Amino acid sequence: MAQRLTINYGKKPCYDIVFGQDFIGLAPELEALHAAERRICIVTDSNVEKLYAEEILGQIKEKCRKAVVFSFPAGEANKTLDTVRGLYAFLIKEGFDRKDLLIALGGGVVGDLTGFAASTYLRGIDFIQIPTTLLAQADSSIGGKTGVDFDGYKNMVGAFYMPKLVYMNVSALKTLEDRQFFSGFAEIMKHGLIKDHIFYVWLLENMYEICERDSAVLEEMVVRSSTIKKLVVEKDPTEQGDRALLNFGHTIGHAIEKAKNFELYHGECVALGCVAAAYISWKHELLTMDEYYEIRDMFVPFNLPISVDGISPEKVLELTKSDKKMNAGQIKFILLKKVGKAVIDMTVSDDDILNAIKEIYFSEEDLAE
Ligand code: GLY
Repeated sequence: MAQRLTINYGKKPCYDIVFGQDFIGLAPELEALHAAERRICIVTDSNVEKLYAEEILGQIKEKCRKAVVFSFPAGEANKTLDTVRGLYAFLIKEGFDRKDLLIALGGGVVGDLTGFAASTYLRGIDFIQIPTTLLAQADSSIGGKTGVDFDGYKNMVGAFYMPKLVYMNVSALKTLEDRQFFSGFAEIMKHGLIKDHIFYVWLLENMYEICERDSAVLEEMVVRSSTIKKLVVEKDPTEQGDRALLNFGHTIGHAIEKAKNFELYHGECVALGCVAAAYISWKHELLTMDEYYEIRDMFVPFNLPISVDGISPEKVLELTKSDKKMNAGQIKFILLKKVGKAVIDMTVSDDDILNAIKEIYFSEEDLAE
């Protein structure tokens, strides 16, 4: 029996997250969503299409009115309004109306973009998430954040729009290339750091099984991480308060992502951002020095970077300040009060940020020493 979590808003159930080791359980879930009367468009990218589009199509085509696939070239560069426009045109051509359904099959780019198109096509049609990367399973498929990048700003245009279902086939994580897998792992580690010390310790204890991608351990990891995210988004669906804690590591992380021209993966930048934020937490006397160094070093066995070259720390500071998570000119920074407890802090200064960036920066001169 597949494991299942329900996301509730107020006391009302909104959607389920179903965890399994295959796509076989998808058809009954679709039946429960009255798929027989609906057209379904699987939205995916050029990488994931090759892996799973045919299998999913096989699972669903007898169960719905019509099933079609819309695929766009993989990559963050295509998370744009132009791609959304292409999808709208395709849906119009295929006769999709408000009762029909989109399936986002892929990673974070596919999920965010499809959700945004669903939120706006005919003023909103249903969509479901089938996340196939660890980043999407751990983070972006849960909580209804949708959107696209705009003029170089990440997720600048978007909407909160809830899926009708999130279906996670955890075995899809086995086909990910290592860099992609560990990039997603940064978000899992983040969940432990901000909310759950016991989960953080469990991750360290299961390091070998996680790196070897043991099926049972991966499923437990994704379920426990999703439970943390569920509790946060249920309490604060539209980021008026505590949901901002999920941005731990993202303030400086996003700036590094931009400064490196998206050459590093998102989770790699999040890991760097977590180290920098933990450093500031130490300097603000929230964490001890030992806690800071432990947090920094535990990213290493998971193949995540704890230092970065080829950036200008001053430029990263500037980019950090131009990020949208500012409140009246002051950066809303997420710090750690202890491992497993994050807090929102409005007192982080430019110097604190610059020193933290310098802490994770290594230059050619450092190498020569
Ligand atoms: N990825 C952070 C959030 O969902 O709020």
